[in-house]
Amino acid sequence: MSDQPSSLHGDVYHPVPEIARQANVPNPELYYKEASEDLEGYWDRRAKELEWYAPWTKVLDDSNKPFFKWFIDGKTNIVLNALDRHVKTWRRNKLALIWEGETGELRTFSYHALNREVTHFSGVLRSMGISKGDRVTIYLPRIPEAWIAMLACAKVGAVHSVVYGGFSVEALHGRIEDSGSRLIITADGGYMGGKIVELKNIVDEALTRTAHPENVIVVRRTGKPVNMEAGRDFWYHELMSLPLTRNASKVETEVMDAEDPLFILYTSGTTGKPKAIVHTHGGYQVGVYATLHDVFDLKEEDRWWCTADPGWITGHSYIVYGPLLNGATSFMYEGGPTYPFPDRWWSMIAKYGINIFYTTPTAIRGLMRFGEAWPNRHDLSTLRLLGSVGEPINPEAWRWFHKNVGKEKCPIMDTWWQTETGAFMITPMPAIPTKPGSATRPYPGVEMDIVDEKGVPVKTGEEGFLVIKKPWPAMMRTIYNDPERYVQTYWSKFPGMYLAGDSARRDEDGYYWIIGRVDDVIKVSGYRLGTAELESAFVSHHAVAETAVIGLPHELKGVAIHAYVILKAGHEPSEALIEELRHHIAHEMGPIAKPERIEFVKSLPKTRSGKIMRRVLKARALGISEGDISTLEE
Ligand code: PRX
Repeated sequence: MSDQPSSLHGDVYHPVPEIARQANVPNPELYYKEASEDLEGYWDRRAKELEWYAPWTKVLDDSNKPFFKWFIDGKTNIVLNALDRHVKTWRRNKLALIWEGETGELRTFSYHALNREVTHFSGVLRSMGISKGDRVTIYLPRIPEAWIAMLACAKVGAVHSVVYGGFSVEALHGRIEDSGSRLIITADGGYMGGKIVELKNIVDEALTRTAHPENVIVVRRTGKPVNMEAGRDFWYHELMSLPLTRNASKVETEVMDAEDPLFILYTSGTTGKPKAIVHTHGGYQVGVYATLHDVFDLKEEDRWWCTADPGWITGHSYIVYGPLLNGATSFMYEGGPTYPFPDRWWSMIAKYGINIFYTTPTAIRGLMRFGEAWPNRHDLSTLRLLGSVGEPINPEAWRWFHKNVGKEKCPIMDTWWQTETGAFMITPMPAIPTKPGSATRPYPGVEMDIVDEKGVPVKTGEEGFLVIKKPWPAMMRTIYNDPERYVQTYWSKFPGMYLAGDSARRDEDGYYWIIGRVDDVIKVSGYRLGTAELESAFVSHHAVAETAVIGLPHELKGVAIHAYVILKAGHEPSEALIEELRHHIAHEMGPIAKPERIEFVKSLPKTRSGKIMRRVLKARALGISEGDISTLEE
């Protein structure tokens, strides 16, 4: 901790003067002031830092709330700013991506090389009939082809729907079906934690449940034999070497309207199936570009590492798009942090000279367990800034990270945001004092509040619902194919306010402290899952009549999945059945969804109208008050 005087309360870590002075935003107060006085002017200025085919005539159109539009009539394509504008300059020879496979391979791409591959693959997509507005499902391991596939879709104006490679059959099938994807891009497999995940087999099984996609493109990663269906399945490397696409360098980036969709990304909510969150070419690129620039202070010579997976919003915004929009060099690693030893990450920070490192509280807690000897064995002196995302970070993990990884000289940017927000919303900047466990203050122009059940702001220190009161460019535009659900889910509890789904409190310095989800979303190790999706995976097992899933606190994972299961007549509880159910959930949903604990019960607490009262189950499990149970059916 620095010993500078401070008017702030509690455990305060002051900005490191050498870092703050040279930061991209050395005086954040000017930004807060500018954006609060003139929100549109602020974003107009930031959007002009990027290139456009045609400028906007109006920054914000709020005439049809909550369907906000940004950069009206502006023409762009995120690829124009992620690749095209860099290859026209000296940056063409700068590294865009450094990649290490779990099995030790190294691949690097300059901006020129990445652009060449993306352009080439765009030609493949075009020749397969993919064009503006078509949906493409991308289901890949953490390999460079994930970048190439996403960027090529964007380049031809197709809408990508990336499904996390840790999801399995039913999760994948549901997302393919709902998006109506015409094409799937996958791999024979990927390496994770010393094992091979057989992605193509999972795709094959998912495709037996749907008639949708016409084609599958398969990247060869592991070399293990896979089923290739003639006329449907094609090898990526074969398509990329076809003469048909050799002149693909002629593929021009499609001119898109600022409001045209760039991607959909499925995420879990309170009820029903996962929702496809829609993000656009215009506002999203501006929000992601500006936040990464300001918060993580990317400098031309920096090497940035975000440990997320491209299959989640963190990967979309801050592995692929944000760094490229900033002309930065990113590092991506394919595998797990403890393979073969718990210093794999620290060794790569030293090996590649990483300057900025952005990860999750779960990963930090997991690596903390192995002790500080592992990070201490490596030269981590290149690090300048650290970051955390995905769940509240407990102060103990924050301090361990600060001391053992950042050597007490790297500020930690704890960034609060969501799939729906597209970009950071509550976050420090290098020149903002931090407090362990707080994401600090809303980003410039983000107007947040904490309100009670009636929508009235709560007092300092009190807990309430986190809401956002003004639109921002990277905000979701709608739920794909379900605009009513968009209004219902986010804008109906408190009219005129975006409901984040989190509870939080604000301290006397205006710093935000996120407590956690107040709905049926479970953040297992920072991964977002919904009770409804999990419960439907349970009842797809022949022995299960009904189930209720809740999240309970867990030392490492933050929150873990607990399931209460009513069996169908003729099935008896047993250890073997518990194992079978765990296996079934992993098969249908993915290994991250494996329940911590399964308990067989005879009944579930329900309201008289038949809704399961998960709140009551949770209270009972935690041994706390069940609250108001007047609606509970006896
Ligand atoms: O509960 C909050 C938690 O993650 C949720 C959003 O999850 P997802 O859409 O998967 O996006 C995760 C990556 C942006 C939020 O509603 N969350 C995210 N970041 C933080 C956080 N909770 C506390 N502190 C954070 N920094």
